[in-house]
Amino acid sequence: MRQTILVTAATGTVGREIIKQLSMQEVNARAGVHSIIKGENLKRLPGVEIVEIDFRDPDSLHAAFTHVDRLMLITPLSEEQMEMTRNLVDEAKRQGVKHIVKLSALGAGAEPGIQLGRWHREMERYVEESGIPYTILRPAGFMQNLVNHSADTIKREGKFYMPVGDGKVSFIDTRDIAAVAVEVLTGDNHEGNIYELTGPETYSHQEMAVMLGEAAGKEITFVDVPEDAARNAMLSRHTPEPIADALLELYAAHKAGKSAKVTDTVKQVTGREPHTFRQFAKDYHECF
Ligand SMILES: NC(=O)c1ccc[n+]([C@@H]2O[C@H](COP(=O)([O-])OP(=O)(O)OC[C@H]3O[C@@H](n4cnc5c(N)ncnc54)[C@H](OP(=O)(O)O)[C@@H]3O)[C@@H](O)[C@H]2O)c1
Repeated sequence: MRQTILVTAATGTVGREIIKQLSMQEVNARAGVHSIIKGENLKRLPGVEIVEIDFRDPDSLHAAFTHVDRLMLITPLSEEQMEMTRNLVDEAKRQGVKHIVKLSALGAGAEPGIQLGRWHREMERYVEESGIPYTILRPAGFMQNLVNHSADTIKREGKFYMPVGDGKVSFIDTRDIAAVAVEVLTGDNHEGNIYELTGPETYSHQEMAVMLGEAAGKEITFVDVPEDAARNAMLSRHTPEPIADALLELYAAHKAGKSAKVTDTVKQVTGREPHTFRQFAKDYHECF
């Protein structure tokens, strides 16, 4: 019988790619979407059903988890992410889910690490202590952050702004995170494992700007900005203060060269090399 796999945050950067890749497998892929309208595109994929889910609403969770075998647990970066995780794991327990795959972040195991990692570690622990077999995915920063957060200024001004200096980062393409997730969700022998996922190389933002520019056929410049300016920009976009501070701490780690760990886990789990930044830039050049 086909397994039913629930993916939460299914309209998000990683979730929608997982749903896309699951739709090519012999499974029932259930896309947990916050708003049905945003999930419309996913509905057209073969073998995919859409279910409306609000992590804070127990009734919606109960319906979304009915007959679910495995859970891909993704929560947004939010002040409520721990509470959301608790609600999801508790419902998984109640409904007899057999395997949870949690999207975490690289560095969640570091001590003392940074705030973003500590938040993820707390969520990982809740999954580990649930008694449900689990696998943890800890990806590096996403190449697709440039699409989500910098495409507007690149299109308008040919520039993007970050307080990261020339620190190198082992950015990963979210298509590779999804490929690992699909392998784990549809395969065996991954229980209890923690997978640290990175791209194949490290890149400074200056180097990424050059590669993006070559792919897009125009000049693209990276502008290093002071922390204060980055903080003010986040607060003016209504980013909650604790989240803004946690992101600044991450950017300081990037700047100090502390986000440059490279692993070969994507290749080990999927049998394929992860995308390089040059390939990402080529595939996404129209966004810029
Ligand atoms: N970005 C990075 O570089 C990076 C690196 C490592 C780890 N991570 C981790 O990746 C995770 C985020 O994944 P992502 O980037 O794929 O997500 P994302 O693109 O930020 O999307 C978040 C998703 O959560 C949904 N959502 C928000 N509130 C919800 C609620 N109350 N109930 C149900 N759904 C809700 C959103 O739907 P609506 O839009 O409809 O509200 C959206 O689909 C975070 O845990 C983050 O720490 C990120």
